[in-house]
Amino acid sequence: MKILMVSPEVAPFSKVGGLGDMVGSLSKEMARMGHDVRVVTPLYGSVKPSAERRLARESLAANLGGGHREYARVWEESLPGAPTSRVYFLEHAGFFDRHEIYAGPWGGHADNAQRFTFLSRAALDLCHELQWYPDVVHCHDWTTGFIPVYLNTTDRNTPLGRTASVMTVHNLQHQGMFGKETFGFSGLPWDVFRADGLEALGNVNMLKGGLYHATKITTVSPNYAKEIQTPAYGCGLDPVLRMRAGDLVGVVNGIDTEVWNPAKDRYLPFPYDAYEMDGKTVSKEMLQSHFDLEQNNTIPIFAAVARLYDQKGLDLLADIAPGLMSDMRLQLVLVGSGDPAVEERFRELAAYYPGRIGVHIGYDECLSHLVEAGADFFLMPSRFEPCGLNQMYSMAYGTPPIARATGGLVDTVEQYVENKGEGTGFLFSDATPGALYYAIGWANSTYYDRKDDYLALRRNGMARDFSWGQSARTYEQVYSWASAQRVGAF
Ligand code: ADP
Ligand code: GLC
Repeated sequence: MKILMVSPEVAPFSKVGGLGDMVGSLSKEMARMGHDVRVVTPLYGSVKPSAERRLARESLAANLGGGHREYARVWEESLPGAPTSRVYFLEHAGFFDRHEIYAGPWGGHADNAQRFTFLSRAALDLCHELQWYPDVVHCHDWTTGFIPVYLNTTDRNTPLGRTASVMTVHNLQHQGMFGKETFGFSGLPWDVFRADGLEALGNVNMLKGGLYHATKITTVSPNYAKEIQTPAYGCGLDPVLRMRAGDLVGVVNGIDTEVWNPAKDRYLPFPYDAYEMDGKTVSKEMLQSHFDLEQNNTIPIFAAVARLYDQKGLDLLADIAPGLMSDMRLQLVLVGSGDPAVEERFRELAAYYPGRIGVHIGYDECLSHLVEAGADFFLMPSRFEPCGLNQMYSMAYGTPPIARATGGLVDTVEQYVENKGEGTGFLFSDATPGALYYAIGWANSTYYDRKDDYLALRRNGMARDFSWGQSARTYEQVYSWASAQRVGAF
């Protein structure tokens, strides 16, 4: 099949969270399965230069509203490990030459509506320009929500009219809501600006447009696919998702086992696997020394790496940290950035408990690998979690997760059964400080008092297969259903 991925993030080139990892690794897997995979994404100021990047088009015009055109220079490169794939980078200094992808220190970029409308329109205009017409365009989150709408309207009577769209919801909380006055820039006809289209409360809602117009919809775990059809998790779009339930499929993400694999990890001092775990002990020593924690292999490290927003529930950890420090023998490590108030709380905790709490505020790829390897438990107290990749990374690294039973965490973490050594981690139900405290206590007592169980949990996690395999085949199936539906084959 000819598959076009359009995404605001593609790892290893650009990444804010798991979306970048997912798009990079799924594209690689699809290319390896023999599909013609091409990816369109912005060339941000933060994308590292590469000797392999070639100029593909000196000037690509994106045809926007009112006859307005914006131009991009297009660069081309393959994904590492997938020589047949092609990533097209759109270079547009005004829109993309910035380090932060979505937001600066003062919130979302003021021109996000225009920036990502441009990404969506330019991706389709690149197909016209190359006369390469994919069977399916795979769109990721709100930034690409206009693509299914273009395919059903402005591009319907062009060769792209036979192209199906698959809209993947990675996170329903972000919808791309903008004032009505931004709509003209898109060049979409006004008759899609309606409640059963992309209008919501008089504004433009890019994701809603994508959800109404996409041929098929997926989200990143079966459990989240159910949750988003309820008011509690639907973020106001649950009626749309219930209406489209027949076209909605939950597919759990795979992980890139070349990048997230303790036996091959180039960021680790010593590689390790389930049979030879010494490298994990060395990683723990390095982690303790990095954060000036007490160098002691017998004290368990509980760690988190995350965007510090409400979704991730790490404020709950800040709430209970003093109690944990007084009641339990453990160390805490946190790597993350986001909400300034939560960042500040963790900075203060680290200052108050030197030697016991280590905090790095910021994004650090290398450190995130060391944490997965060096910690004894990985914390994910998420209020909601569409899939979550970190719990899979941590299981692969022999670091049992402690996770709230929500979204994809339910689909990927298997509950520990005490004294039987079954399961891969610790699940708890309520997003409350008390429930997190209790779960950490449970894990900690397992570490000290049921060592065999703890070691079994480690082994169980490391033995699980989190690679793309099955999920990539499910996407293949979804693409062919979408394509058949689009061309009227069924
Ligand atoms: P989400 O996409 O919601 O942030 P995921 O668990 O799917 O959650 O993916 C998060 C990814 O982002 C992981 O690869 C994680 O290691 C990475 N990440 C998040 N914050 C940081 C950080 N501060 N430094 C390095 N990596 C980070
Ligand atoms: C989003 C979700 C996360 C998911 C990731 C990749 O960022 O918050 O749960 O793993 O997308 O699909």
